[in-house]
Amino acid sequence: MKILVVGSGGREHALVWKLSLSPRVSRLYCAPGNAGISQLATCVPIAVTDLPGLRQFAEDQSIDVTVVGPEAPLALGMVDMFRHAHLAVVGPTRNAARIESSKVFAKDLMKRQQIPTADARVFEHVEAALAYLEQCSFPVVVKADGLAQGKGVVVARTAQEARDAVVAMLVHHAFGDAGRHVVIEDCLQGEELTMMAFVDGNTVLPMVVAQDHKRIGEGDTGPNTGGMGAYAPAPLVTPALRDEIVRTVLYPAIEGLAHIDSPFCGVLYAGIMVTEGRPCVLEFNARFGDPETQVVLPLLKTDFADILEAIVEHRLDQVNLEWADQAAVCVVLASGGYPGAYRRDLSITGIPPLSEHDHVAVFHAGTAWKGQDVVTAGGRVLGVTAWGDSLRAARDRAYGVAGRIAFEGRYCRSDIAGRVLM
Ligand code: AMP
Ligand code: GLY
Repeated sequence: MKILVVGSGGREHALVWKLSLSPRVSRLYCAPGNAGISQLATCVPIAVTDLPGLRQFAEDQSIDVTVVGPEAPLALGMVDMFRHAHLAVVGPTRNAARIESSKVFAKDLMKRQQIPTADARVFEHVEAALAYLEQCSFPVVVKADGLAQGKGVVVARTAQEARDAVVAMLVHHAFGDAGRHVVIEDCLQGEELTMMAFVDGNTVLPMVVAQDHKRIGEGDTGPNTGGMGAYAPAPLVTPALRDEIVRTVLYPAIEGLAHIDSPFCGVLYAGIMVTEGRPCVLEFNARFGDPETQVVLPLLKTDFADILEAIVEHRLDQVNLEWADQAAVCVVLASGGYPGAYRRDLSITGIPPLSEHDHVAVFHAGTAWKGQDVVTAGGRVLGVTAWGDSLRAARDRAYGVAGRIAFEGRYCRSDIAGRVLM
């Protein structure tokens, strides 16, 4: 099989790495990829939003299956375009991807399908939103409707913070069109987890449940980031809770989408808050999570190419997902200053060759080649992932390798998986 992976982060490196282990895969391409990905796949300089360029490439190279990493091309209709061209692609259509690209759409869907989620109100006009805040108790959560690269959510502890967020979105257009509508919802307390599932329109096959660390600072403090680390499986999740999420969240979501002629194929990501033992949806994503994918795929025993093929052929019901009885931990190494401004082009040393350690993969998130050197090229630079027979073994191995990797300003949290490894 010839496979094209679209994207350039740690998630895409993990996808490419897993596919490189499949005996069924003969050629691997990645658009645009990064320095690490280029060691496993042919990287082609096509932007993830250049849909005609991607289609042309897939046609010219007779790609058998294309896998879409990030949300932007999905929201632009990449899957619709590929399907018109009779190109097999793993990902939802633009309409189905609204479950991620519009929080208003997702809330409506959840309401219709009675999927547990926080109570919410939607506003277009600032006066109405501010008036509503007068009667709220705090904290509340203010969310821009559209895609905002993870930055469009404000957990407002006070009325002033909530008003500031509403004004920034509805008056100052801090997120452009993505903030033309805002959702104001109840703030939930509890433990967050990520359940991703392979979906072929009808069948839902859940993956191992992961937890990520969204905040920049130790002890889950400071601003939100794309994710500073993750681990799987999440010990919090019992088989009963897992089944409850599949039954009360994932199936109702795909049934609701099918009902409005937007069947979902690809990977559905549910961000869940577990409150007093019950799951409540924080968000849906229409794609693999990052960094969660970096800890979930190392545990997958079933041939990944077989799964992707089964998704595009709508026969996931014939697939039996098998998982290693192990645990994985990913520690993200970030550029100093992230999630604010940071420097690029700094030389990185100490990345072990892929084959050097068993049970370790250093996934590149923001790197580039500069001559023979690998240099930093993003806020999140590397995801050092390790796995083993216990979470503790995986964590110790990941930090052991991470400790030998150096670049100026390198920052990582030292408490990844700490919540469960006190
Ligand atoms: P979202 O993009 O909707 O997942 O929001 C990003 C982050 O904001 C989540 O991972 C949560 O940590 C937090 N968050 C979102 N919605 C809520 C909520 N209703 N209650 C508490 N925290 C939330
Ligand atoms: N880790 C959160 C996300 O992928 O959106």
